Amino acid sequence: MERLQKIIAQRGYTSRRKAEQLIVDGKVKVDGKIITELGSKVAKNAEIVIEGKKIELVNKVYYVLYKPEGFISTTDDEHDRNTVVDLVPNDVRVFPVGRLDYDTSGVLILTNDGEFMNMVTSPNSNIEKEYQVKMTGFLRKEESTRVCRGLKIDHYVTKKAKINQVTYHKQSETTTANIIITEGKYHQVKKMFEAVGHEVVKLKRVRFGTVTLDGLSKGDYRLLKPHEKKHLYEDYKKANS
Ligand code: URA
Repeated sequence: MERLQKIIAQRGYTSRRKAEQLIVDGKVKVDGKIITELGSKVAKNAEIVIEGKKIELVNKVYYVLYKPEGFISTTDDEHDRNTVVDLVPNDVRVFPVGRLDYDTSGVLILTNDGEFMNMVTSPNSNIEKEYQVKMTGFLRKEESTRVCRGLKIDHYVTKKAKINQVTYHKQSETTTANIIITEGKYHQVKKMFEAVGHEVVKLKRVRFGTVTLDGLSKGDYRLLKPHEKKHLYEDYKKANS
């Protein structure tokens, strides 16, 4: 027996958090009965129907996509824009692990493994994400130090970050730099540089844990390698043990 939300996530239907909401909303039927209680435990092979659709166990898949700009990180978009799932095979339903903005490019993992997704997107996952940033103006040392120490944006203080490869471009009056963060709040990198007076004009995620864009062209995908998946789990375990 396992918790119902865990089984739904294991079967790749959605994340555990979203499964909880579906349960509370009375949309989940187990062996013919609607279950709304969150702690409910059910048999691993129970028949689960969500909004009239039977949820079967499917093989887990993990894609690494080189997301181009101009794609939205959701499974469907109300404004009919291109979505990242259009760029990977559609024989199994996958979800992006976290988000990259519409105008951001770079490493994005997609999977149907809800448990994996929860682990990787957890606020305590401690997985490093490295971004190549182009910003307006010249990033001064004091500003870089403030960003690295952590600063207040919206209602939270960012965790420690690292900045390297700072290059000034005199003609265009811009700076390029790499920043490494371990969080993934909404528009986080853009807001961090905005907080010290620089607008981000180009953003690319070049690394997610040990996963890089090596060998991929923009818009292409490959399978996540087993050792890459293992490293992501290890980063999480290290931070949560
Ligand atoms: N930070 C941002 O501001 N945007 C992204 O897409 C990713 C991180």
